[in-house]
Amino acid sequence: MAVPLIDFGRQHDYLRRDMEKAISLVIEHGRFILGPEVKRLEQEIAALCGVKHGVAVASGTDALLLALDACGVRGGDEVIVPDFSFFSTAGVVSRLGATPVFVDIEPDTYNIDPDLIEKAITDRTKAIMPVHLFGQCADMDRIMAIAQKHNLPVVEDAAQAIGAEYNGRAAGSMGDYGCFSFYPTKNLGAAGDAGIIVTDKDENAERLRMLRVHGQSGKYEHSMIGYNSRLDTMQAALLLIKLPHLRTWSEQRIEHAARYDEAFADVPSIVTPVVKDYTTFHIYNQYTLASPKRDAILAGLQEAEIGYCVYYPIPFHKQPCFASLGYKPNQLPVAARAAEEVFSIAVYPELTDEEQQEVIETISRLARG
Ligand SMILES: Cc1ncc(COP(=O)(O)O)c(C=O)c1O
Repeated sequence: MAVPLIDFGRQHDYLRRDMEKAISLVIEHGRFILGPEVKRLEQEIAALCGVKHGVAVASGTDALLLALDACGVRGGDEVIVPDFSFFSTAGVVSRLGATPVFVDIEPDTYNIDPDLIEKAITDRTKAIMPVHLFGQCADMDRIMAIAQKHNLPVVEDAAQAIGAEYNGRAAGSMGDYGCFSFYPTKNLGAAGDAGIIVTDKDENAERLRMLRVHGQSGKYEHSMIGYNSRLDTMQAALLLIKLPHLRTWSEQRIEHAARYDEAFADVPSIVTPVVKDYTTFHIYNQYTLASPKRDAILAGLQEAEIGYCVYYPIPFHKQPCFASLGYKPNQLPVAARAAEEVFSIAVYPELTDEEQQEVIETISRLARG
């Protein structure tokens, strides 16, 4: 039986009518840019995170870019990021003319290793950007303590972690800015690109609202150079249809993850995801295994038509576009090893028991082979 890594169609089967109705309403009122649905989405996501403001933007990448810009990151500055993440995390730093400083990760969570952050801080450091990879928050208490000691802002890359909780606190609510992506594969996915930044501070939100409209402070008056990065009203309308399901969907992912954890516990050479004590809600945007036999397992999965993906096969310090930064190959060994061993498998809410059993049996057979 073929098992896809993800299948949006199953969600849309039961949401299609509501989604079509929501789009029709937007066509009727015609406020395609920053319409009423955008405002409602901003309020609801801010409430979900327990903070005052949400500022919806064109993508998760733009959320990071605008948040760093709002922190004042400019040419010559440095921003501390984990070595292992989606490209945007590092790319946005370079786009502002600053230098990403790559820090190695924890071997169990794949999140930035707080023990290594302080060594990476210099007098050019302008911000710290932890990533809550795969849906589990980085160790924010320790990260925030370091940031406060050095008086540095923290931008949470919570693109993969909407609704996740760290000691009961929402992902995105602990730093100065929390950035989310609504890319279709996220737990809350749009029908295209979309993102949002949350923040508790009025002045941060005001700056972000200007930045997303060309730095505009009054009609055709620009007090800063900004971007064109507004969330489409249609995307907001669709996200509002999906938002009430988010918690249940994440709980279904947790159930799938528990079943995988149990099934793989005794399979040699397979390492299942580690959930830290501080993780009070892991949203499993990805269920990510590790194995020294990964490449053989992936070849078998390919043959069996079982969906998988490697997030991520190349750590930042080995990316060709960052060669000029002068890192040595495998300079950050934990990230380098993760890139060679991890792979993610189907964990979406609508995955059936039969499909999951097929994935479990195939991986167990390949790992033992
Ligand atoms: C960790 C991380 N950061 C940033 C992004 C960028 O988000 P987007 O694809 O919406 O631009 C993503 C998602 O794709 C992500 O997974």
